[in-house]
Amino acid sequence: MVVNIQERGEAMEGFKLLRGMELGAATAATQIEGGECGHNWNDWYRKGRIKDGSNPALTTRHYDLWKQDCDLMKRMGLQVYRMGIEWSRLEPEEGNYDQKAFAHYREEILYLRELGIKPLLTLHHFTNPMWFEEKGGFSEVENSVCFLNFVKVCLENFYDIVSEYITINEPNVYATSCWFYGEFPPGGKSITKAVKVMSVMAHCHIEAYRMIHDFRCGKGLTDTRVSFVHHMRVFVPKNKGNLWHRINARLLARMFQGAVADAMFEGRFGFPFRNYYKDKRGNYCDFIGINYYSRSTVSGFADGVRVGVPLNDLGWEIYPEGIAECAKELYARWPLPVYITENGTCDNEDAFRSRYIYDHLKALCDSGLPVERYYHWCFCDNFEWAEGESARFGIVHTDYSTQARTIKNSGNFYSAIIAAGGVDQQLYSQYAEQETYHM
Ligand code: BGC
Repeated sequence: MVVNIQERGEAMEGFKLLRGMELGAATAATQIEGGECGHNWNDWYRKGRIKDGSNPALTTRHYDLWKQDCDLMKRMGLQVYRMGIEWSRLEPEEGNYDQKAFAHYREEILYLRELGIKPLLTLHHFTNPMWFEEKGGFSEVENSVCFLNFVKVCLENFYDIVSEYITINEPNVYATSCWFYGEFPPGGKSITKAVKVMSVMAHCHIEAYRMIHDFRCGKGLTDTRVSFVHHMRVFVPKNKGNLWHRINARLLARMFQGAVADAMFEGRFGFPFRNYYKDKRGNYCDFIGINYYSRSTVSGFADGVRVGVPLNDLGWEIYPEGIAECAKELYARWPLPVYITENGTCDNEDAFRSRYIYDHLKALCDSGLPVERYYHWCFCDNFEWAEGESARFGIVHTDYSTQARTIKNSGNFYSAIIAAGGVDQQLYSQYAEQETYHM
């Protein structure tokens, strides 16, 4: 069992999980399910835009193998699971819903509940049906209604078995990757469009938030929790003494995460959103949902990586303290329960993931924040968007040729943390102590 190291006053490694804190894993439909569903990532693959050529129609075939994956989650002791649903499967043509696909997800959710794993349902995670994409997706104000109609039908199908919802995953990453950096479909290159997309998504989130609460409340259900998921980074100037670096770090933080947080949490459409919506003040999040991965070192108007810092296999800085810094920043503005809805790393050999998990969980448990959930990204290796399958984020290894799943060393560590309610010196020595990050 976990030793209270502080009480013993010894310089030992370890931490206790916070009271009531639940641990699990996150996934997204497109990244694990496979299938030609008529979505924009099937199309992006056909356009040759996946770096390693892997095909999202294959990936981990979770749509067929969902039951064995859920059983594996149970075996690993996961308490909570953040999952997505594929919009293009559920609504293959506008207004035409596929009841078989709804029944499929209902079966999966009911099975998770039977196993005692609580689902958190993400309604939009980066992928659009082609019919929506072809209308301009979230870049057109009038298309919001398409998303909201979809949310309504999801509620009709899931309201009684899901109480916790994420409306939209990472509007900032979605908007900038799709419309500014051009790495995600449709490959846009316009900052104005990216800003507009974020504001349309904020509007969609607010309306969906209201709808989910009203709908479930109308059915006499009062345990509803809804939020969006915010991708947070720490932005620091490359050189603190350089005014230009400092200005850019603040500007990027505002453009990338500050403005969208104001709009999503409280309906405040400030700079740079002013042109699209009037303020709709209110409270639109029941918890703080944070996806945290890295820190950005800023000199010009783009993020960079400091030299001589620990890096993951995609070259992202590993900065564990940042998870608590980001959560504190949001909590200071909106004191709500904290859910870490994603945190994880690309470590193809599983060489430092246990240390990564240890360092990030420790930072959270030492933060003094009411962290209620931690969802590791990802349950299994999967289709990592434009990077493809070769970027491995799972605590479970996927063999893409046989579809065999094998729990990694880090997965065993994670299970042990859940079972023990934290990490004591012995667990630390067994899993994390020997692992070091590379620079
Ligand atoms: C996304 C995931 C993605 C992960 C790692 C997050 O931005 O929500 O879909 O796989 O980061 O890149």
